[in-house]
Amino acid sequence: MKIFRNISLKKYNTFGFDYRANCLILPKTEEEAISLFRGEIFWEKPLLIMGSGSNILFTSDFKSTILCPEIGGIKIEEQDRENVLISAGAGVNWDNLVEWTVNKGFGGLENLSLIPGLVGATPVQNIGAYGVEVKDTIEKVRAVSIEDGAITEFNNNDCRFEYRNSIFKGKIKGKYLVTRVYYRLTTNPLLKLDYGSLNDEIKKPGDVTLKNVRQAVINIRRSKLPDPKIIGNAGSFFKNPVVSSSAAESLKKMYPQMPAYEDQSGGIKLAAGWLIDQCGWKGKRIGDAGVHDKQALVLVNLGKANGKEIYNLSEEIKKSVREKFSIELEREVEVVGTI
Ligand code: EPU
Repeated sequence: MKIFRNISLKKYNTFGFDYRANCLILPKTEEEAISLFRGEIFWEKPLLIMGSGSNILFTSDFKSTILCPEIGGIKIEEQDRENVLISAGAGVNWDNLVEWTVNKGFGGLENLSLIPGLVGATPVQNIGAYGVEVKDTIEKVRAVSIEDGAITEFNNNDCRFEYRNSIFKGKIKGKYLVTRVYYRLTTNPLLKLDYGSLNDEIKKPGDVTLKNVRQAVINIRRSKLPDPKIIGNAGSFFKNPVVSSSAAESLKKMYPQMPAYEDQSGGIKLAAGWLIDQCGWKGKRIGDAGVHDKQALVLVNLGKANGKEIYNLSEEIKKSVREKFSIELEREVEVVGTI
């Protein structure tokens, strides 16, 4: 297992900020993680568990320990005529896993193509895109307790999945390291194409196949979302807000074109990107901290911005949306550090 002291985090956050951490530990196996948590190796608390840093905003140096699991391996656990249970180590690159499932003809993850990050973060964040959330496929999550190294398996219900949320971000935040995730997929996939832009894009190649759905999702994402290897960003910076139906109705009267969708919770989900766009932020910048010019929900590091500058820009955006629409935007990314 690799252990680095006083290391730059530039490679470990997709905004590309050059903050430092006192210590970075990269366990390669579940056994190595267990030995760490049983105290066989000294590490300084508190501990920050991270994947590839694709949903995090550092605003200062991290004066303690960061752990990024590098646990690999994709396995077929069980397969019958219609169903297949696969598992992947927490350190597997998410899109490599999606590509592998699509090549095998296993359906369920194709709408989640090209989402940056690692397998271990998918249940934590309940990643979602184009009408699918990963909770729809997760059968169980294997995790190790940080307190004593004990292994626990959480079934789908135990995970308390919600929109971009789960028990791992709530009640037991920071208490477990996810080591392996089990996904229930199907060999006879029912493709989900109800998301407007996906439905339009899929018409281009003609046949509605697993591979074409993956390609259509990749095409849409590439056209709207900046590649973090080229422009630092962490995907959607804010969550889409859910408001009461009466609040949505009065907004609809003022803004008839406003996108609004019924939410599972009974409220109405609005598009944060649209709200920010309406406030005139799309393509704007304050120094090198910018709002992406093709999707206002994505904040970008246009060169030498630091975490505090991106944070300050996000505060300005929140203020505009509050003043214009009386809606309080909530950040989707996790802010780590002093403000
Ligand atoms: N819109 C605008 N202007 C903008 C951005 C969006 O008018 O600058 C409008 C769009 O025209 C559309 C609506 O807002 O009518 C929604 O936009 P889009 O389809 O791009 O999706 P989103 O709600 O902004 C969410 C997820 C994305 C996911 C897409 C596709 C959240 C916070 N974001 O974005 O997830 O890829 O749907 O399903 O739920 C992520 O979490 O990092 C992420 C990229």
